[in-house]
Formats: sequence, structure tokens, C-alpha cells
Amino acid sequence: MDEKTIWEKADVYLASKFVREIPPYAFTFPDVFIIDRYSEKDSRSQITNLKTKLARDVFINIPIISANMEDVTGDRLAIALAREGGCGFVPQSLSIDRRAEIIKRVKRAESDVIESPITINPENTLSDAKKLAVKEQISSLLVIDKDNKLVGILTSRDMAIEEDGNKKIEELMTKSVITANPGISSQDAKKILRANKIEKLPLVDKDGALKGLMTLKDILKTRSYAVRDKRGRLMVGGTIGVAGGEEKLLEEARLQINAGADVVLIDTARGNACLTRRIVEAINKSFPKIPLIAGNVDNPEGALGLIKAGADAVKVGIGPGSACKTREETGVGCPQLSAIMECVAVAREHDIPIIADGGMKIDAALCKALAGGAHSLMLGGRLARMEESAAPEYGEDGKIYKLFRGSASIEAQMSRIEQGSLDRVRPSEGVRNRVERGGKLSDTIQWMMGHLRSSITYSGTESLQDYRQNAKLRWQSRAGYEEGKPD
Ligand code: XMP
Repeated sequence: MDEKTIWEKADVYLASKFVREIPPYAFTFPDVFIIDRYSEKDSRSQITNLKTKLARDVFINIPIISANMEDVTGDRLAIALAREGGCGFVPQSLSIDRRAEIIKRVKRAESDVIESPITINPENTLSDAKKLAVKEQISSLLVIDKDNKLVGILTSRDMAIEEDGNKKIEELMTKSVITANPGISSQDAKKILRANKIEKLPLVDKDGALKGLMTLKDILKTRSYAVRDKRGRLMVGGTIGVAGGEEKLLEEARLQINAGADVVLIDTARGNACLTRRIVEAINKSFPKIPLIAGNVDNPEGALGLIKAGADAVKVGIGPGSACKTREETGVGCPQLSAIMECVAVAREHDIPIIADGGMKIDAALCKALAGGAHSLMLGGRLARMEESAAPEYGEDGKIYKLFRGSASIEAQMSRIEQGSLDRVRPSEGVRNRVERGGKLSDTIQWMMGHLRSSITYSGTESLQDYRQNAKLRWQSRAGYEEGKPD
């Protein structure tokens, strides 16, 4: 596609979104407002579903993901965010071992699979089994031999029928046990449990060795808004950069995928580059099943390049972030709402979601990014202040602050030099900010989503998808924007 056509597509899309005129210059959040239109919704509480596509076949229940920054995403924040319905991305500046460890911790936090079920041996006695069942507060025990092979199950009924405590378990246990492969999904496990009217499904490998246990109770436990993989574990994203050579990056992707990453982000400040496209192609070729997000870009040429290289989602934003200096230092970077909308203009034709990254300081900006067509939003500074963030805390003048370092700031680079992942300080394109420590992530997310629901109803649309496609914008003057601020 030639350059002219790409920009014409952007103009056509912008014309469909703006009432009256398209702004003649690149614009950002305060430059526009969302138009109030007739709605049949009586209350914002009627907007119950905020599910959105993150990448390929990966969906999240709220359109929020956390920035892959050291002062934002650690295991605590990633777990808290996945429980609210979003997804955390581990920082690529951390060593590969630490990234994999964070992913494993998120995966261990909640699961439909009990990885180490309580077991007993066939030579043990009924009274051993009863003591163990009381101690562990469970009703039945899996019976394994000395090679960890499953040989039976001792149910509460088996235990209740016999009175002689010295009887060996092998005489009492149920020997024919229905089992499944360790990789089975929660859905398929539920089908087997229901079809056989049983409550427990031991997972065994092809040699009969016990690898885990799924129970109907765990699978049926109340599903919250949390986003989970097909085994009921919380969702989390792995991240790689583009430096260090293909071999190293493939290995980093492999370790994170093996640790359980549901999606991999290829992140660099300059996504509109041959190197980034090459890495996207290489990762796609080696891991065709894993959805890939790539970025950052800020115009349709960059977005289309990553899509053609095989990205399943494109992350947009050069310089809008709260700790960014790229625009000031290099003069490059497009005002963020223009960047988002122009990338959406080409990505929507390929059914590829756009992730708006950075610069959404207030909830109105989150709403405008989505109303402009983005599928999801990456937040840095606003999540860094959360209690669960990975940012270091300190007290001063009676207040508690969190330290939030831009990934390209001198301070973040110094920390990487200390960890051995950087050899020397490069010209900085980021700043260090201190942010006052906020409360729990869940409270903040509830507020944000409340404002989003309101905005959807004000705009006369019916759902998040309808809002992304049909909310209309209008250009406003600076005085118009100022008017909307309280005194
Ligand atoms: P917010 O506004 O949510 O933005 O804090 C988070 C995003 O900012 C980007 N980022 C940087 N950009 N220099 C930059 O130019 C930096 O040092 C830097 N650190 C983070 C990044 O895209 C992040 O998701």
C-alpha cells in the first residue's frame, strides 16, 4: 500500500468519527470531547460487559493492562490486575530469571489444578489415612506407589465402610480411577466429571505418574471478573525487547512461555523499524501458537508494518507517557489521540486491536482513547502509585511516596547497570517522578470502570464495542476544555 493511501484511510476514519470538522493538526485528549447522544440506557449499571480483545484469541474483561515497567509490574500488581479482569506485563528490563519467576508466581496464585495433591501409599493403614484426612481437611486421598504412579483413590465412603483401623489401604481403595492428561482444560475436565458423576479427576502422564488433581468444587467455584487461562490460572504477559540478537530473544520468549505467559509483548521505543519487524517474524515462526503484541509506533505506516510482520496487536504511543522525554529530547512523537486513531484506521481492516499506551492522566483520557477506537489501554504512572505496584516506597514530610522511573531515565538505566543488564548509560529519554502512594488497585479500577460505563451511556452507545465503533468526537478549544474543570 503506498503512503498516500495509508493517510487517506486515516482521513476517512477520522471523518467518520468527528462531528463537524476534523482538527487540522495532530491532537490529543484535551483537544476533543465525546458527544452526548440519545440513549435508552437508564443507568450506567446496565453496561455490564467491558470485555475486549487484547490480541488474537486473548480477551480481557476490562480494557486495562499494566506497563511493562520495573516500577509498575511485579507479581503483586499482575495478580491484583488479573483478578480485576486486566493483564499485567512483566518488564523486559528485568533479568530473564526474574521475568519468568514473576510469571510463575502469577500462575501459582490461582488455579483449577492442584499441582501437589495429598497422597498416601497402599501399605499405609486406614487409621493413617483418617489422621491425614483430618489434618489436611480433605475427604478423599489419592493412593500412589513408590514410583509416584496412581494406583487408586481412597474415598470418604471407602473409609466410612471399614472399622478396622489396621486394615491396609490397598484392600480398601477404589482401584479403577477415571483420570485425564495433565494438559486438560477446565471445560473438558468439567465434562468428564459430570458425565461420570464424580468429584475428583486425578491428572496422570502417559506412564501413569500422578501430575495433579482437578476437582468439581474448584472448577465450579464462583467465577469473579478475573481473567484466566484455560486451566483457571490468572492471565499474565511476557515481554522481550529487540536488542541482544535473535537467539537470545527467542530463548527469553521460550522461558516466559514455558513459565506460563499467555501472550508475548515485543516492546521497543522504535517499533517502526526493520529490526522490530524481523523479531516479530522470528518469534511468530518459532512460537506460532502464542499471540504477539508489538510496539511502539505512532502512525499508520508503523502499525501496518508490524501487522504485516505478524503482530496480533499493535501498541501505540511515542512520548505521551507521564515519565517520557522522547518528544522533548528528539522532537519525534505524535500527539496521542491522533496516533491512536490513525493506527486504528489501518488496523481495523485487518481485525487487529490497538493498545493505547501512555498519557492517560485522568479517566476522561481513558474514555477518549477507547472512544477513538483503541481496544485496550496500557497504564504506567497511574498504576505505579497503587499499593500493589513494584515501585519502591519512601516516606517524606509525613507522606508516603512511590518512586516512578521512566524506563529510559538515568535512574532506571543505573538500576539496570547494577543488575548487569546494561553496560553504560545512554542519553536519557525519561524522567524520574515521585507519586503519592494511592490505595488498593481494585478500588481505583472500580472508579475508572465506573467513569467508562458513564461515558458509554452518555455517548448513546450500548457496549464497549459499540462505543469504540460509534462514539462521536468533536474538536474543542482550549477555553472549552478549561471550562470543564471544577474551580
Ligand atoms: P503513563 O503515562 O501511563 O505511560 O505513565 C506509560 C508508558 O510510558 C512509556 N515509557 C517511556 N517513554 N521514556 C519514554 O519516552 C521513558 O523513559 C519511558 N518509560 C516508560 C511506556 O510506553 C509506558 O508504557
